[in-house]
Amino acid sequence: MTSDRTFGITLLGCGIVGSGVARILTEQREMLQRRTGMTFDIRHVVVRNAAKTRAGDLTVSTDFKAAIESKETDIVIELIGGTGAAKTAIETALRLGKPIVTANKSLLAAHGAELFALAKKHNTCIAFEASAGGGVPIINALTRGLIANRIDALVGIVNGTCNVILTRMTRNGWTYEQALAEAQEKGFAEADPTMDVSGRDAAQKLALLASLAFNARVTEGDIYVEGIETLQKVDIEFAKEMGYIIKLLAIAERAADDRLCLRVHPTLVHHEDVLAEVSGSFNAISVYGNSLGHSLFYGRGAGAMPTASAVVADLVSVAMGTTQIEFKQLRVFPDTTAAAKILPFHELQSRYYLRLMARDVPGVLAQVTTALGEAGISLSAIHQRETDAGQFVPVIITTHLAKEGAMQAALQVIDALPVIGRPSACLRIIDPPLEFAGN
Ligand code: HSE
Repeated sequence: MTSDRTFGITLLGCGIVGSGVARILTEQREMLQRRTGMTFDIRHVVVRNAAKTRAGDLTVSTDFKAAIESKETDIVIELIGGTGAAKTAIETALRLGKPIVTANKSLLAAHGAELFALAKKHNTCIAFEASAGGGVPIINALTRGLIANRIDALVGIVNGTCNVILTRMTRNGWTYEQALAEAQEKGFAEADPTMDVSGRDAAQKLALLASLAFNARVTEGDIYVEGIETLQKVDIEFAKEMGYIIKLLAIAERAADDRLCLRVHPTLVHHEDVLAEVSGSFNAISVYGNSLGHSLFYGRGAGAMPTASAVVADLVSVAMGTTQIEFKQLRVFPDTTAAAKILPFHELQSRYYLRLMARDVPGVLAQVTTALGEAGISLSAIHQRETDAGQFVPVIITTHLAKEGAMQAALQVIDALPVIGRPSACLRIIDPPLEFAGN
């Protein structure tokens, strides 16, 4: 492809992000022409239900095959989502040698390696910046800007919905249910928020980011996932009193033996960590590389215009031919890398926050600390709250580094004690990698 060319685009799916892409390509047409020497024309918009779609002056159809095969289509933008029709459409385009720009994290997390190989076989490419971090150019950074770094850890807030909910719970003292209801009312959370609040959306994004950061194939199944649905406001309050903010973090770390520890769960983040400051629908990804050190990528991780910003950036790279060259040359994409060696989750070393509901009678703390001691877990602080309500009082314990398996075993023993009310809360605390602490 050369410059000063017009590119015919087929847009598959015209929901929130698709409308944003159409808007940028219309409103920024001249700016893009001036900057790139290229013109982008949407020639086909394909949707499931044409009657329900408003796409301005654009002609809308339901025949994705005809649109992809059309001679007028040079590049296909897939914004259908999911692993069904989107996969078929992408395969159709790739077999014709037509490049794909996509935001489809579920599809790439499940079938990335196979689709990248298909793209290569047909001498074309898949650009997927919008699939993680919305408008934040984190994929560009991992595959290009940070290529001179061995990355040791990547820690991200990659789900805006959860961050909106947690921010409300933290700042306003709301329950999860109250915060979710408001997020749904304001359009931050979907009517069925399961993918987001269960942590699955973040896990799919982490699979993509970790694959690129560590040059190893990671799938969603490699990642331990806990969502925010059972998070209690008392734990947010107690954490705050100790100087921590609870965030849903997507964490990928390289262990000493090069195995990867991959997890998504609510995490206590020290209030001085930059991630503690990331609020509302914003995303942020901290990357720890051996040359650059700590870097932070921050911005809007969802929504029409931020996500469309990433889609159009990909469109330009594909039209210039740079994505195709990188795709052919770089050995960082999951079709060229070996499966990641995963550290089993029970081997994770972490500090922990425990909140137990204990009967206020003699000897309770001795029983709890014995259970922890016998599991080899060392306590860093313990605090019993004074209360005049009810038979059970909250006891908050933080630990030094301990193994996940040992902690879960100790928790089973503690939860079985007649003096302990259920459920207990057990959350992980994250500390910045040692060499970066305090820098
Ligand atoms: N639902 C996602 C979020 C955006 O809340 O961050 C799309 O991945």
